[in-house]
Amino acid sequence: MTTTLDRLTEKAGAPAFGQDALIVCDSLVRIYQADGIEVQALQGLDLLVDEGELVAIVGASGSGKSTLLAVLSGLDVPTAGRVRVGPWDLMAMTPAQRVAYRREMVGFVWQQTARNLVPYLTATENVALPLALAGTARRERTARATQLLDLLGVGYCADRRPGQLSGGEQQRVAIGVALANSPRVVFADEPTGELDTATSHEVLECLRLVNRELGTTVVVVTHDPGVSEHVQRTVAIRDGRTSSEVVRRTQTRDDGTEHVVAEEFAMLDRAGRVQLPQEYREALELSGRVRLALEESHVSVWPDRPRIQPRTASDEAVPESTGSSRQEGTR
Ligand SMILES: Nc1ncnc2c1ncn2[C@@H]1O[C@H](COP(=O)(O)OP(=O)(O)OP(=O)(O)O)[C@@H](O)[C@H]1O
Ligand SMILES: [Mg+2]
Repeated sequence: MTTTLDRLTEKAGAPAFGQDALIVCDSLVRIYQADGIEVQALQGLDLLVDEGELVAIVGASGSGKSTLLAVLSGLDVPTAGRVRVGPWDLMAMTPAQRVAYRREMVGFVWQQTARNLVPYLTATENVALPLALAGTARRERTARATQLLDLLGVGYCADRRPGQLSGGEQQRVAIGVALANSPRVVFADEPTGELDTATSHEVLECLRLVNRELGTTVVVVTHDPGVSEHVQRTVAIRDGRTSSEVVRRTQTRDDGTEHVVAEEFAMLDRAGRVQLPQEYREALELSGRVRLALEESHVSVWPDRPRIQPRTASDEAVPESTGSSRQEGTR
């Protein structure tokens, strides 16, 4: 017989949400107050990223992407929820720990090329700068900077200042700066926002190379609709929540040849919520009250209109309610 204590012990032994993930965002809420108006930039966002992943985050303007990255990079503190990166609990860091976290654990690349690089330093000096702040000896700094610039395909830019580099070269040097202290994670917020399509693809390929060659976990926010071709996983954010994911997998055909398939998934959050795409809602005029029906292998969603009624797996009956059913008096 299971006692209450058994059940509690069992519960305590259950793995916590995202226990094995490198990055855990659990029901993140960020509310901004501006001129007495409340803006909910993050509305209970859940996200897990494993060590070694390369994840793209996409979403309409204002959906909360930069807010999320500001939280993950330790620049901003969420209003509620839980956020952990590796061993760091980002809700409970002291200012000194915040500085250490930003120096040792993570690197950043921003959209504005000017924000990433110091204009009067050469590419090598820019990459060496974070190492100087960390107290690394000069010779070692220069060697590491040279090695990184070579890896990123911009070794020929070593002695040039940012003003003498193209936008794409600047962003590749910026990736070098982000990698200087060998962080476990690199966050990039629209690193290709100011670049044309071809250059943008080069920079995304560069992030892929970093992920593959150095094993660095990369989270990149982008507007580039072609991004899902460069990454295994694309997470879409809508209204401050993760709403869907595109996962790319390599499959082997019967004849042994390989091909890549991309599949889109909706995200079911921990409270059981799922966002229906707008086009689905519009096509069937779904709004407000809908009926849910449990089928043998899936759940269906029906509009609340007469004559459109779900067929359940067992019979033709309409489900009474999707919540707890209550007996009404008979007439
Ligand atoms: N400091 C702030 N004060 C008040 N509101 C803010 C602040 N920063 C962001 N917001 C609001 O929060 C919401 C999310 O903003 P965020 O910058 O995260 O969006 P985004 O997805 O990065 O958009 P974009 O694609 O345009 O960069 C927006 O409605 C924005 O106006
Ligand atoms: Mg943004």
